[in-house]
Amino acid sequence: MARSREAGLALISIEHVNKSYRLDGRAVDALRDVSLAIDEGVLLAIAGPSGSGKSTLLNLIGCIDSPDSGRIVIDGNDVTGRTPDQLAANRARTVGFIFQTFNLFPMLTARENVEYPLLQFPELSAAQRRDRVASFLRLVDLTRFARHRPNQLSGGQRQRVAIARALATKPRIVLADEPTANLDHDTGSEILGLMRAINAKYGTTFVFSTHDERVISAADRLVRIEDGRIRALAIRSGVKWRTVRPLASSDGPGRQDERQEGRQEGREEGREEGHAFEPTAPRRAALESSA
Ligand SMILES: Nc1ncnc2c1ncn2[C@@H]1O[C@H](COP(=O)(O)OP(=O)(O)OP(=O)(O)O)[C@@H](O)[C@H]1O
Ligand SMILES: [Mg+2]
Repeated sequence: MARSREAGLALISIEHVNKSYRLDGRAVDALRDVSLAIDEGVLLAIAGPSGSGKSTLLNLIGCIDSPDSGRIVIDGNDVTGRTPDQLAANRARTVGFIFQTFNLFPMLTARENVEYPLLQFPELSAAQRRDRVASFLRLVDLTRFARHRPNQLSGGQRQRVAIARALATKPRIVLADEPTANLDHDTGSEILGLMRAINAKYGTTFVFSTHDERVISAADRLVRIEDGRIRALAIRSGVKWRTVRPLASSDGPGRQDERQEGRQEGREEGREEGHAFEPTAPRRAALESSA
């Protein structure tokens, strides 16, 4: 798993990416010259107002959409312009996606939705798949709802199915578009705790888009995006954020200037080590059995 880490390369490298959409004959610039290097094992929050380009950026990283120009390299592979189908097997093992709108299959039960991506893995027997699905449904506390179809689940429950589905393949990267937006406060905190526990246990890289300060405070990297541009980039340093700035284009693609700017972001976000985002005992047990 540590190929990119060993080589000192970012796991995800976004280089001078531009993306615009056409709407009523007019171009809407969703991303403008975005460069960003994401290291393996980080929990990165992409924060910004509605319409700032967060989902667009996640969709490009997840190869759901392709940039107009620029390059996206994941684990040393240039994925720019490739479709999910072209990347098929490799992508399923690399990226798990939690969509803003969940994208569950309406005709499949919760259990079948979580099982679906595992069908691509020939090395898993039916029994192993069943165990894997059961442990991930337990992880998101949905064992009792395994036979429910999406329209028989609440918004938060659907989101938890989507989370279990994204995690069940044990991908190296999980992309989560507003993972707490449809969850009540306690469930949102638990889901964040779960993601942090998975990050700590498996070194899974998480990239979230969010408006939620709790998601930001669970993260260890922060990108602020506005109007399609990266405005600030910060690295957690204890309970504070150390702001680093993206390099100017002439400094080379996809690298950040890691020099300390000597100023903190205004907020002092406590990560509240050890309690606020801890998974509950049953979820912790499920996490242990999902290994
Ligand atoms: N398919 C599309 N067609 C036209 N314009 C689009 C399309 N998708 C996104 N946009 C536009 O691109 C810009 C960025 O959208 P995006 O969905 O990335 O924002 P966002 O930061 O995820 O917002 P939110 O917080 O509301 O989810 C917006 O101005 C949006 O209207
Ligand atoms: Mg969005």
